[in-house]
Amino acid sequence: MIKQAIIPLAGLGTRLLPLTSVFPKELLPINGKPSLEYILDECIDAGVKEIIFIISDKKKLIKKYFYNDKFYKNIIKKKKDKRIKEEYKKILNLKRRIKFVYQNKPLGTGDAVLKAKKFITGSHFLMLFPDDLIMKKNCSKDMISLHNKYNCSVMASMKVKKEDVNRWGIYLKAKKINKQNFLIKDVVEKPKPKKAPSTNAVIGRYILPRAIFSKLKKQSKGIGGEIHITDSIRKLISQKHKFIGHNFAGKYLDCGTMNGYIKSSLEISKL
Ligand code: G1P
Repeated sequence: MIKQAIIPLAGLGTRLLPLTSVFPKELLPINGKPSLEYILDECIDAGVKEIIFIISDKKKLIKKYFYNDKFYKNIIKKKKDKRIKEEYKKILNLKRRIKFVYQNKPLGTGDAVLKAKKFITGSHFLMLFPDDLIMKKNCSKDMISLHNKYNCSVMASMKVKKEDVNRWGIYLKAKKINKQNFLIKDVVEKPKPKKAPSTNAVIGRYILPRAIFSKLKKQSKGIGGEIHITDSIRKLISQKHKFIGHNFAGKYLDCGTMNGYIKSSLEISKL
C-alpha cells in the first residue's frame, strides 16, 4: 500500500520571475486556489496519509500557509464566514498530514528526495512534482492501482514534440503491456533531440522503491551539474527493478513556466 508521498518544493521558480521573487510559485493561485493544493487534493484522493514537503529556508512561506492557526482563529471568532471556516478546516486537516524537511542548496531532484529518506517507512512511496498538474483524472490513483497489480515502480508518461525532448526525462520502451502502459527499458535525462530514445517524456508522478535511496547516496552529478532522480532510476532499471510507464488519461498542465501558468489558469477555470 502506498501511504506516503514526497513533494519537492525547494526549487527557486526562476521561470516565473518576477512573481516568484518574494512568493513561492507553489502558492501562486490558479483559479482561486494555490497550485500546490491541486497536488495535495490528488494525493489525499489517492489514499495518501502522510506527505513530506521538501522546502528550503527561502520557501518558509509554504510552512506558514499551513501553520497560521492563530490568525485563522482570530478571524473566525470575529467573522462568522462559512467559507473561511471550511477552508481553515481543510488546511488543518492537511497540516496534520504534512512533514517538512529542508534542502537549502539547489543540488537537484535526486538530492531533494534523499533528504526525505528518514521519513519513508513503506517499501514504495509516491512522488509528485508541483509544476506538473494533471486534471480531470487522478493520475496518482491510477498509478497506485498499477503498482498494486504488478508490485513494481511506476512513472507517468506523455508524448512530447521531438524538438522539446531536451526539457524532459525520456523513456526507452521495452515492451507494451496494454494501450496505456509499457515496461521501461531505460530513461535518459534531457537528451538532445538527435539522441533521444523516443518522444515519451517523464511527467512528475513517480512510484519509487526504497532502494532508490542507496542509489541516490552514491549518485554523481549529471547534466547541468545536478543530481538527477532519473540517473538513479536508470541504475535500478539496469539492475532488473521493474518500472512501468503509464500514459495517463488526465489533462496535463505545465504551471512551471509563465506561458504554462497563464494557460493553466484559463484551462482550470473552464473545468
Ligand atoms: C524533472 C525531471 C525530468 C522530468 C520532469 C517532469 O525535470 O528531472 O526527468 O521529465 O521533471 O516535469 P525538471 O522539471 O526539474 O527540469
